Amino acid sequence: MAEQFRTAWAGACIYEYAEIDSTNLCAARLADQGAEHGTLIVAQSQTAGRGRRGRGWESPAGDNIYMSLILRPDFGAEKAPMLTLVMAYSVVQALEEAVCDRVKIKWPNDLVIGTKKICGILTEMKLLETAIDRVIIGVGINANVDTFPMEIRNTATSLKLETGKAADCSALIGRILEKFEANYDAFAVKQDLSDILEGYNHRLVNKDREVRILEPGNEYEAVARGINSAGELLVQKKNGELETVFSGEVSVRGIYDYV
Ligand code: BTN
Repeated sequence: MAEQFRTAWAGACIYEYAEIDSTNLCAARLADQGAEHGTLIVAQSQTAGRGRRGRGWESPAGDNIYMSLILRPDFGAEKAPMLTLVMAYSVVQALEEAVCDRVKIKWPNDLVIGTKKICGILTEMKLLETAIDRVIIGVGINANVDTFPMEIRNTATSLKLETGKAADCSALIGRILEKFEANYDAFAVKQDLSDILEGYNHRLVNKDREVRILEPGNEYEAVARGINSAGELLVQKKNGELETVFSGEVSVRGIYDYV
């Protein structure tokens, strides 16, 4: 697989598995043993695929993408959440070039086609005192799966279902790494999202749409206006005031059944 990558460091070292518990968990174990910046873990299937907020990630064998990248940044831990957005943007760029130009970003890091999810990203960080030991970015892409369990049938789709063609997963992983490496290197210099801001907002499905902000103890409706260079979502409340949202769940009307 590595021979397909035109990268300097992303994927320079690769661990491939037919089956693993979770590529993120495997990456954490390898990172604890000293795995380098750019180490990639890829699996054909996961027995304990993990999603955000303690959810699982459906991970059958059948030519989907389950991958995790180990990063050893030397910037401050407060910058790390932005890496998720850098990855989301990199995956969209790769998919646009190679597979489908209808992929959009649901802030901060879900990728959707139409109203259905095609890709999820799980970023996990470990600190040593206050400095970053490592960041692990896990990416799950529904590539060639044909059917989904009942619970997610209305909210998930795959590249194959959307395009009618089987996606070449190895080639796609290579392209994602190329995009991510370039975007990460630019991010590491400025330590903000200014280089990808315009491109990210251009692909943001939330932009100028009604969203429901689901912050603990504070739920409200607003219109999303795009992200700023810190990765926060700017939303306009009904009274015209602008607010920045930096974490928490955001529902977009018409996406994942929010009506
Ligand atoms: C989400 O909830 O949207 C995030 C899903 C992330 C899934 C990927 S699959 C590869 C990596 N390994 C995991 O266990 N999870 C991530």
